[in-house]
Order: sequence, then structure tokens, then C-alpha cells
Amino acid sequence: MKKKSRYNVAVVGVGAVGVEMLRTLKEHKFPIDKLRVFARSKRKIEVDGIKYQVDEICADAFRDMDFALFAGTEGEKGAAVMYAREAKKYGAIVIDNGADFRMKKDVPLVVPEVNASDARRHQGIIANPNCSTIQMVTAIAPIHWKAKIKRIIAVTYQASSGAGRSALNQLWQESEQMLKGRDVISAFAGPELYKKRRNDLALPAQIAFNVIPHIGGFGEFGYTSEEWKMVEETHKILHTNKIKISATCVRVPVLNSHAEAIYLETQKHISPDQVRKILRQAKGIIVKDDVSGCVYPMPIETSGRDEVFVGRIRKDPFIRNGLWLWVVSDNLKKGAATNAVQIAEYLIGKFK
Ligand SMILES: NC(=O)c1ccc[n+]([C@@H]2O[C@H](COP(=O)([O-])OP(=O)(O)OC[C@H]3O[C@@H](n4cnc5c(N)ncnc54)[C@H](OP(=O)(O)O)[C@@H]3O)[C@@H](O)[C@H]2O)c1
Repeated sequence: MKKKSRYNVAVVGVGAVGVEMLRTLKEHKFPIDKLRVFARSKRKIEVDGIKYQVDEICADAFRDMDFALFAGTEGEKGAAVMYAREAKKYGAIVIDNGADFRMKKDVPLVVPEVNASDARRHQGIIANPNCSTIQMVTAIAPIHWKAKIKRIIAVTYQASSGAGRSALNQLWQESEQMLKGRDVISAFAGPELYKKRRNDLALPAQIAFNVIPHIGGFGEFGYTSEEWKMVEETHKILHTNKIKISATCVRVPVLNSHAEAIYLETQKHISPDQVRKILRQAKGIIVKDDVSGCVYPMPIETSGRDEVFVGRIRKDPFIRNGLWLWVVSDNLKKGAATNAVQIAEYLIGKFK
């Protein structure tokens, strides 16, 4: 892209990710000339004391824009499906947070610490991977480059903010009811009521004081779409479909930051100490791993941070080349907004 000192940027969507996008652009001092913010309706919003004018999105919203950072919902009525091609027509580079374009051949799927140069092959649209994939791939790529990973089993503990603003509201409201000693209409209130209530919920069941082993829709072999994303997107980012990956994705009553227990099997032997050393030197990773001092990453400490945190690095007691990692990262930051802003930074030569 043509080098400029400042760029025109459009942010689409002002939900959980959109607001974080505005915050991250500011924190990273992204060189912005004109900033436009769009959603389904016009309004004024305030983020960290800064007022933003939000305009109703329309086809020519992207005139003069260099970047269009999409943080709208997915699917047919979602912002990216409806407007990404319009933005591209106006010459803006689209960086999309949703799943609509991720697996398309002509759309690079990029985690800058891992495969930044793929972004250069864009044809107008670049996709951000799913939040659970981004933090896993950031943590495992340096191990893969050193010891070649052949197997991954991942179990996720995903925060409610990962399903957007309405899921966060559900967690707050249900928790409030529970703490007041009131019954939350849930699976426990009888199958009929549960079925009726389920349609109104952002998440597929009660989340307060509960965990839900169900993110996305159920598909092949009984895995959910979220679980398949971790397989397919990891293969696309690492340019290999040789790694055998299976995942179980679980929603937990945490406000923000996803945690993942990741089991790896490598072709070459690598010790936990070597893994710690490699990850300490890797970009975008913070190793917090000292069990003697009870040091390990947790969602309450990683929220608001750009990095991926890794701890509990240990060998499998029975499998020689088997390792476990505990990986925690802010799903709205590195899992969405930070990753998108870093892709834009890479394209303007600011991400080193
Ligand atoms: N939450 C996460 O941790 C996370 C992580 C990675 C990726 N993502 C992806 O990021 C995207 C945004 O997620 P979110 O959690 O921020 O969702 P959200 O909280 O539900 O917010 C969605 C935003 O998109 C806007 N929007 C929806 N359809 C639109 C359209 N047709 N035109 C313009 N704006 C539209 C909404 O506008 P109104 O405000 O006017 O309703 C709202 O501001 C999704 O694709 C999601 O899958 C989310």
C-alpha cells in the first residue's frame, strides 16, 4: 500500500470488539488522519472519556478510507457480508474479525507474530482468526518451528465477552438474580421453560454459576463450529494440515479473557525448560510460570493486555514428547482488536 504519514480508518461495529478497537487504535497511537465509526444506527458513544460520533452504515461509508476494521456481527445480515466488498471497491483494506471470509482462498488469515507476511498477499480483505485460535497459535508456533508439532488436544475456558455485548449482559443479569437468591430460568426450571427461554438467550444455557460445553453450532463428529475453527484456522495459519488437532470449547462465567489447556505432541524432543526459553524470546508472549510461587496466568490479570500469557508448562508423565501449556489472553484484545490493529500496523511498516 502507498506509504502515508496518516491514514483514514473506518471502524464498523461498536459492540464488545468495536469499542476495544477504538481503545486499541488510541493506545497504539495508530497514525490516523480521519476516523469514521459505523454501526446499524446513528448515536454518540464515549470510550475512556473520549466521545465518538457513530454513523449509520451505508454503501459509500468507505469513500477515502485506507483501512476498514470490521467488528460487526457475522452472517448474511452482518456488517462484513453486507459491506466488506463495498469497502474494498473504494480501495480500503478490510480487516475483518468475523468468520465469513476466514477460510476463503484469496483471504489471508493472519496472526502477525506467526504469519505476518501472508497479509501482503491480500486482495482487499484480510481476516482475523477466531479468538481461541489466535492465542493458541501465538503460543504454539515458536514450539512448532523448533520441534514440529504433530498432535494438539485443546480445551478452552472461554469468557462471556467472547460472545459479544449481549452475552456479557446475560452473565451480569443472571449473576445478579442468583446473588439475590432468585431462580434463574434455566435448564433446572423444566424442559419446556428451558426451551422457551433458550431462544431469548445470547448463550445456549444459563451461564451464571455454570459452564457450557457448547460454543457455535454442532457439526461433524459432534464437534462445534468453534472447535472446528481451531482445527482449520490453525492449519491455514501454520500452512500445514498435518497437525492432528481436536478441541473442546467451553463457555465459563468469566467476564473477559479466554484460558486454554493445550496438550502438544512434538516430533523432536523438547523439554519444558527449552519451551520456556523459546517462549520468553518470542514476540507477543509473556511466560508466567513458577508453580513454587503459585505464578501462572489468569483471566483477571490478562484482561486489558495485548499479549498472550503462558504458564503451567510441563511434560506429560507418560508420553515422551508430550507437553501441556496453560495459555491465557484477552479475547477482545489479542483475540480481536489488537490482532486487527497489528495487521494494519504491519502493512504500514509499524509492526516489527
Ligand atoms: N467478542 C469477542 O471476543 C470476539 C473475538 C474475536 C472475534 N469476534 C468477532 O467480532 C465481531 C464482533 O463481535 P462483538 O463481540 O463485538 O459483537 P457485539 O458485541 O454483538 O457487537 C456487534 C456490533 O456490530 C454491529 N453490527 C451488526 N450488524 C451490523 C451491520 N449489518 N452493519 C453495521 N453494523 C453492524 C452492531 O451494531 P449496533 O450497535 O448498531 O447494533 C454492534 O455494534 C463478530 O464477528 C465476532 O464473531 C468477537
